[in-house]
Amino acid sequence: MVDPVERKVTPEEQQIRENPPAHVAIIMDGNGRWAKSRGFSRIRGHRAGAESIREIVRSAGELGVGFLTLYAFSVDNWKRPRREVAALMNLLKRFLAGEERELQRNNVRLWTIGRISEFPPDVQHAIDAVVKSTAGNTGLTLVLALNYGGRAEITDAVRALCEKSARGEVRAGEIDEALISRSLYTADIPDPDLLIRTSGEMRVSNFLLWQISYAELYVTPVYWPDFRRQHFVRALLDFQKRERRFGGVEPPPNY
Ligand code: IPE
Ligand code: IPE
Ligand code: MG
Repeated sequence: MVDPVERKVTPEEQQIRENPPAHVAIIMDGNGRWAKSRGFSRIRGHRAGAESIREIVRSAGELGVGFLTLYAFSVDNWKRPRREVAALMNLLKRFLAGEERELQRNNVRLWTIGRISEFPPDVQHAIDAVVKSTAGNTGLTLVLALNYGGRAEITDAVRALCEKSARGEVRAGEIDEALISRSLYTADIPDPDLLIRTSGEMRVSNFLLWQISYAELYVTPVYWPDFRRQHFVRALLDFQKRERRFGGVEPPPNY
């Protein structure tokens, strides 16, 4: 459906729309520091972060990005105070219920990656409901990484392949990179072209370890709750200037 109040596209945005990345992944970091710098509780930081999610999802769709993967909860985030974890679960549920209409309106399909079965049943139901109701949408695919860990994902894939092997469905010699990729949670998702991390930290924190082997990295000091459309556009423009070589040479040599 076309938005009745179609916003004006800037020349920079037009440039991105002409050749958008197939997949952008974001480590949404800095909610706690954003809150602390204002004397707020960490939980208020997460609430503010949800606003950025709304804006970036919408922007990604409008700019023609195919897949947007957002790291929302890691397998290691259970270590946080119980109150914070409970607040994050609640926020997730509220976000899904509150955003469903907006996702439909913007033709966004919701997928998830991660060990969702370890979430409380009410959160699982909320996720399932939106995944099902948006399954037919054909615009942006929003992938929420929930209870996600790169090592956990690889471990799950190895286990699945071992079980297949024990049943005689796969032989060791058949295991190649393509089969491993197809055995990950991201089987149907292209590898990220661009990995953005907000809040300045220079680490990948167990995110998409297999998939980011040739992703371009972009780290911004901006805290996630302050990260808005103009920051996203800046990251995509920076990405467009990168020369990706994938181990080869560019431009092709003339010998
Ligand atoms: C990222 O912000 C959100 C989640 C991990 C859920 P943080 O909560 O990690 O914020 P900082 O890193 O403490 O500032
Ligand atoms: C990464 O951020 C996880 C998410 C954004 C969900 P963290 O704040 O949990 O990672 P570290 O502790 O800085 O490595
Ligand atoms: Mg953090």
